Amino acid sequence: MIRDMQAADIDIVTQIEAMVQTHPWSKQQFAESLNSYQATVIELNKQVVGFCILQPVLDEANLLLMAIHPNMQGRGLGFKLLEESINQLKNNPVQIFLEVRESNLSAVGLYEKSGFHQIDLRRHYYPNPDGTREHAIIMVKACSDNFADLFK
Ligand SMILES: CC(C)(COP(=O)(O)OP(=O)(O)OC[C@H]1O[C@@H](n2cnc3c(N)ncnc32)[C@H](O)[C@@H]1OP(=O)(O)O)[C@@H](O)C(=O)NCCC(=O)NCCS
Repeated sequence: MIRDMQAADIDIVTQIEAMVQTHPWSKQQFAESLNSYQATVIELNKQVVGFCILQPVLDEANLLLMAIHPNMQGRGLGFKLLEESINQLKNNPVQIFLEVRESNLSAVGLYEKSGFHQIDLRRHYYPNPDGTREHAIIMVKACSDNFADLFK
């Protein structure tokens, strides 16, 4: 089941985030995202196992963050969550942007499967724990149905 994130989800969402990110969002950032962004969670057996945060901006959107619990990855949940979260965007964006670490092959694979493609490379963008830096791939997904709606 995919539904809006609520205040009661913030503890588990913060825990999942801390398991998968080297620079995780804080509880406060997640709490603020409830008002500022579109935050969704995916449940399995009534347990939250993942989340997705999208930022609608005029007729576009940015994918800010998403994760699936490490024990639940590779089962199609990330794809389902991303597709449904995009469908639920109320501003019907014509395109959606995201940034992802170049080495994050599972995320890049997921985004490509969801229709995103690379448009740019932001060099030395992400800090690594060892002091080095990593490139960010900038990707975009064109939402052609929403684009066509602009001309109706
Ligand atoms: C990226 C992430 C959200 C993917 O979620 P998931 O539930 O594991 O992904 P799915 O099982 O839905 O897989 C969807 C597609 O992603 C790609 N993918 C998933 N895992 C992959 C892997 N280990 N290697 C390569 N591609 C992979 C595949 O294209 C897959 O489609 P397929 O099963 O038809 O081959 C998850 O791995 C995760 O939480 N990672 C840590 C946090 C993160 O990196 N978030 C994104 C950056 S903010």
